[in-house]
Order: sequence, then C-alpha cells, then structure tokens
Amino acid sequence: MDKKLYIKTFGCQMNEYDSTRLAESLADSHGYRAIDNPEQADLLLVNTCSVREKAQEKLFSQLGRWRPWKDHNPDLLIGVGGCVASQEGDAILSKAPYVDFIFGPQTYHRVSELIDQTVSTRSAQVDVSFPEIEKFDCLPRRRVDGPRAFVSIMEGCSKYCSFCVVPYTRGEEYSRPLDSVITEIFELAEQGVREVTLLGQNVNAYCTTNHRGQAVDFATLLRYVSEIEGIGRIRYTTSHPLEFTDELARAHGELPKLARHLHLPVQSGSDRILARMKRRYTRNKYLQIIKNVRSYCPKISISSDFIVGFPGETADDFKQTMDLIDEVGFDHSFSFLYSKRPGTPAAELVDETSEEIKKERLHELQARVNSLASAISDSMVNTVQSVLVDGVSRRRSRQICGRTENNRVVNFDGPSSWQGQFVDVMITQAMPNSLRGVTVDHHNQVFASN
Ligand code: SAM
Ligand code: F3S
Repeated sequence: MDKKLYIKTFGCQMNEYDSTRLAESLADSHGYRAIDNPEQADLLLVNTCSVREKAQEKLFSQLGRWRPWKDHNPDLLIGVGGCVASQEGDAILSKAPYVDFIFGPQTYHRVSELIDQTVSTRSAQVDVSFPEIEKFDCLPRRRVDGPRAFVSIMEGCSKYCSFCVVPYTRGEEYSRPLDSVITEIFELAEQGVREVTLLGQNVNAYCTTNHRGQAVDFATLLRYVSEIEGIGRIRYTTSHPLEFTDELARAHGELPKLARHLHLPVQSGSDRILARMKRRYTRNKYLQIIKNVRSYCPKISISSDFIVGFPGETADDFKQTMDLIDEVGFDHSFSFLYSKRPGTPAAELVDETSEEIKKERLHELQARVNSLASAISDSMVNTVQSVLVDGVSRRRSRQICGRTENNRVVNFDGPSSWQGQFVDVMITQAMPNSLRGVTVDHHNQVFASN
C-alpha cells in the first residue's frame, strides 16, 4: 500500500516551489503520494513562512489540529519546515514535543534522511543548517503538471532590508549553477512546459560562470534560457531595483520570449522611508529604471510590492507613494501592512501611527492600483493578445482559459486539446477579474509538429 503525504504550505511562491520539490523528493525516496486530505496522511508536513506576523501562531494552531491524530496513531509522522523552523529550531520541540523532525528552507532535500533517522532512533531530528550547494544536486527530476513551471535559480538574500527576516531565515544569496538551471528547464520543456518563471528573492543578483569560466549575470542567463527549444515565454520574480542593469532592461526589448511584464518591488515612494528601510535606492532611481525599461519595451506592464505603515511613515510620505503609483501606472500590487519582525533592525524603530490610519492607507493604495489595473484591462479590449492555454474554463463547457503576458486570465471558446499552446486571442470584454475573447489564430509557437 502506498504511503500518503500531506503538505500545508504558508507563504510565497518560493515556499510553494519548495513544497512541490519536497513532495517530488519524497515520492522518489519513499514512494509517498501527495494527497489533499490531511486526515488520510501517513506523513504531515507544514512548510512555514515568517515574512509577516502571526507565523508562530499559525504554525502552532496547525500543529494543535494535528496533535489528536498523532495521539490516536503513533506511527503518524509530523515534520515542520521553512522559515519559522529555521528561526526557532528545536525550540519548536519544547512547545510541540509530538513533532518528529524539523528542517530549514535549505535542507528539504534531506527530509528523507530525517524520516529514516526519526524512525530508526525513535527520537526527534533537527536540521536547519544552510548547506545550499548540495540542495539542487540532491533533488530528483521534476514532475510536470501543466504548461507552466517555476524554476529556482537563486537562494537566500544578502540585501538585509531593515524590516525583513529572509536573510536570517534563508541565508545569504547563492546562485544555482548555470548547467543545473539550464538542464532543469530543458527537461521541463521536453515534458511539455511552455512557460517558466525564474524564481529567487533577487533574481537579478544572479551571478555564476559558464563552462569557459566567463561570468554569467542574470541578463545573460535570460539569453541562454531564451535559446531553449520548447520554452515560449519566460518570467521572473522577484527582482530588486538595486541590481537592475541596463543589460537587463535591454533584454526586455530584445528577447521576444521574455514576457512584457516586470514585477519590481518599490515598497515606498518616499526617500526618507526608503532610507529607513535600507533599500539602497531612491524614488528617482526607481523611476529612472522604469523609464529605461520602457525605452526598450514601451508596452511592458509593471507591478510592485508596497509596505504601508512602516515606522515613522507620515501622511506626506504616504502621499509620495500614492504619487509614485500614478506616475508609474502600476498594473498590479502586493501590498502589506508593515509587520514588526523580531530580530530585524526596524523592530527597534518607534512607530506612532495608529493601526486604523495604516489600514485606511492600505485600503486607499489598493483601491488606486486596482483602478489603474482595470483601466489597463479596458485598454486591452479590441487588441490581440498571445495567450498560453492552461486549462478549461470553470464556468462554461467548451471554454478554455489561459494567461496573457501581463498575467490576465482570458476565457474563450476552443477545444481542450489546445492546452499547452499559445493562441492569439482578440479581447472582447474586460471583467473585474478576467477577460473574454475570441480566437484569431491558434498556433504552437514552439513545436510545429504538435
Ligand atoms: N526580494 C524582494 C524585494 O526586492 O523587495 C522581496 C521579497 S519579500 C520576501 C516579499 C515582500 O514581502 C516584500 O517585497 C515586502 O513587500 C513584504 N515584506 C517583507 N517583510 C515585511 C514586513 N516585515 N512587513 C510587511 N511586509 C513585508
Ligand atoms: Fe527581504 Fe529585502 Fe531581501 S525585502 S528578501 S531583505 S531584498
């Protein structure tokens, strides 16, 4: 009988990616099959995130729900991974002694060993070290699910923004070797993947060498990936304004496979707040980057991350953020209330703004970005968009759906056999969360034989 695994994932795409890779690794090593119902699992894992507050509370309330199952079934294994595990280490065991093993974001490739050790020694195991170099070498071949896939190219972060825990929980920046990245994408393409998203905290800090010992930066990596047959669209997330080179901006104008979309976190439009955040760029520098990218790729859509209510943020600082939003014309945002993270420098700053004002500001910011986004959706009506078909519509039979370069979902009539293909679609209607369209031309840009 096969063994069943359930993973509860908190947090960002990075954690989602880690959970997927972890499931693949445990399928390979122990034959575990990932399931959606935790009550039927033989192994329960929680992959934690501590970027914003309540991370610990979320973890322990999740573990509390699982505890009675362990009382009934002592063979059930429970593991805790991710950033909270990295921060708290074996302190988790004193609060939740029924946990069997603990692993960090850089040791999920060792979980199969931790399971074996837990079972053979009948004692809890902890490994929250940062042996980045081996991680990518120890993971099995990817299992593909649909035409889109994430590919991790970097680990960790060395920027130490004053509000952020990531450098402490995930370690310093480390670039995955070029041949490992290229081989993974090549194999994904062979299995039908058409769009890859290159993943990392700051992908544009990517820095390695090729087989001739020549330096390879992120812009060069994009050029290599673009050569891979089968891959028709490339995205990346997240990049940082600090290392946004002219070569990278130029790549947006020169590489047709690079989606005309850029997610570039700004956090704030006020220089005073940016300095307190230790972001190491100014508002003006950010605007120059956007201007430069647009000079190479005029139709590029721009999205961003914002933190509202950072300690000391005044009404004027917030107004500068709102002005920046209008000036850039963002298409989407991930916006958060500032959350005090223990151990980070910003946690020491005095914060006098009330929660109520912070929430009002967040609401105002989100409303402004949403209205800009809906104006962009409206402007897409009567234009032809390249859509990568990735599923059948949930609402109507005979309808399929996919995503445009700027990540809009489009529903339109077509056969389900078009899944995994790029289709030219004329947009006919913009709705609040999706678009409707009709097919203009259907072609597989990549393999003519398909
Ligand atoms: N590398 C990216 C960058 O250039 O900023 C960000 C990665 S971070 C894990 C993702 C987002 O979480 C950040 O852009 C920021 O908006 C948000 N974030 C991080 N720490 C936060 C905190 N203490 N409170 C609120 N939001 C936070
Ligand atoms: Fe965090 Fe700043 Fe790095 S937001 S992930 S320390 S770039």
